[in-house]
Amino acid sequence: MIPYKTIIRLDKKSCTPIYIQLCNQLVQLIKCGVLPPSSKLPGTRWMSDTLRIHRKTVIAAYDELVTQGWTEVSPARGTFVNSLLPIVEQRPIPGEKRTGEALRIQQASGFPFVHRRHLDNTDASFPEEGMIVFDDGIPDSRIAPIEEIAREYRNVVRKSYNRKHLSYGSVYGNRELREALTDYLNDTRGLHTTPENVLITRGSQMGIYLSARLLLGQGGTVVVGETNYRSANKVFIESGGKLERIRVDECGIVTDDVEQICRSRKISAVYVTSHHHHPTTVTLSANRRMHLLELSKKYHFAIVEDDYDYDFHYSNAPILPLASSDSGGNVIYIGALCKIVAPAIRVGYMVAPRDFTDEASRLRRVIDRQGDPLLELTLAHMIRDGEIQRHSKKALKIYHERRNLFCSLLRQKLHRYFDFQVPEGGMAVWVRLRGNYSWNKIKEEALKNGLQIGGSCGDENDPIEPPYPGTRMGFASLNTDEIREALARLEKTMEHIGKLS
Ligand SMILES: Cc1ncc(COP(=O)(O)O)c(C=O)c1O
Repeated sequence: MIPYKTIIRLDKKSCTPIYIQLCNQLVQLIKCGVLPPSSKLPGTRWMSDTLRIHRKTVIAAYDELVTQGWTEVSPARGTFVNSLLPIVEQRPIPGEKRTGEALRIQQASGFPFVHRRHLDNTDASFPEEGMIVFDDGIPDSRIAPIEEIAREYRNVVRKSYNRKHLSYGSVYGNRELREALTDYLNDTRGLHTTPENVLITRGSQMGIYLSARLLLGQGGTVVVGETNYRSANKVFIESGGKLERIRVDECGIVTDDVEQICRSRKISAVYVTSHHHHPTTVTLSANRRMHLLELSKKYHFAIVEDDYDYDFHYSNAPILPLASSDSGGNVIYIGALCKIVAPAIRVGYMVAPRDFTDEASRLRRVIDRQGDPLLELTLAHMIRDGEIQRHSKKALKIYHERRNLFCSLLRQKLHRYFDFQVPEGGMAVWVRLRGNYSWNKIKEEALKNGLQIGGSCGDENDPIEPPYPGTRMGFASLNTDEIREALARLEKTMEHIGKLS
């Protein structure tokens, strides 16, 4: 006899009715082979006495089992497990809350799938309590205008005529945001675009992905810097593209290298972070910008301009993007509000010739039917009201101070170990090693001192990237106390490593 009294645990405080709990647990017993096909269930009176519940509750559970097809009733004989169910080998009943056991994580899938090795090392997790993180250069979410967003979002949803945005909408994104962004980009970045050229994405990353899929689908070549934004490289490989790496110096990617490649073979695209090269932070010089545009026209390739941190330039006015001088329809301009507002606000944009935007919208539709229209409308209003611009100015001032503090302390305390240039903009410093140290070792030791160095660096375990000579240390997301503490921890780490070597 099955020990129903100990196996079945009913929780009277649960919001699931008792009869459903009983039914579900009997189903588990059937699925685990404890109750095989054609076996008889105890009578309802016995079950109600044993489990100390009302008989009507047991009857309701048994009725439910019949309705779901797990059992069948034989008149005058009782209730039996459906004889047509397959016989399964008896196995333990899975651990459930009711038995007090921890839920088991299913570690391995019971089916084959393609493991994409080039996508390894993309994990992001929250740091442990007390750990300070040098990230890749991301904004400080603590200063994000979240109250303002919440207020405007509430205003938007309160208006009954905005309820239509709860339904499916345009795959291009909210029209008002496309219009607001068009004016904003034309005013601030010298673009000459229209809402028809704008596709709203879930951040720059999606813009890069859509562009890569459309440009490289047939195994095309994309030219990238020998140091490059690693996630973009992963996207290009994922999209079937071939990476052609060219030199990067203090003026950005070397466009003569692009020309040399074009003379001998066809390329589909050049990916460029023109404002501040990722990871080294240098700005693409004016003559190289003009050269690259000329080449794109002559050799008919696309320039994927990822302008991820346009708003953060400290030394002088930001330099206008390549897209502002594109007369041949060769530039796909990608940006986002994720860096101005906060990474979790997944709203970005792609600005491109209309035929390309149309195609990208069709591709986007098959992976993500649409974005978040209410959030998009909220942001449209905040751009129109100048709220986003005000926040961006405020953040610029804060990050400028943080950059200055970070760089002066890094120079004062750690110049023996590190070499760097003060970045003109962006949210990270590109730091190179002076001595014969290993970044992996530094990372490992730093962790012991409560410092996580998480920026793009020479990770010897990266499946596709050769180790880079430097790493990015993000300063924008740390306040001044945290910067001081982080650099003190780094100093301690380096002194320890110095003694070892
Ligand atoms: C160069 C570069 N491009 C694109 C992205 C992706 O940004 P988003 O959060 O807008 O998708 C990042 C993120 O750090 C980045 O550094």
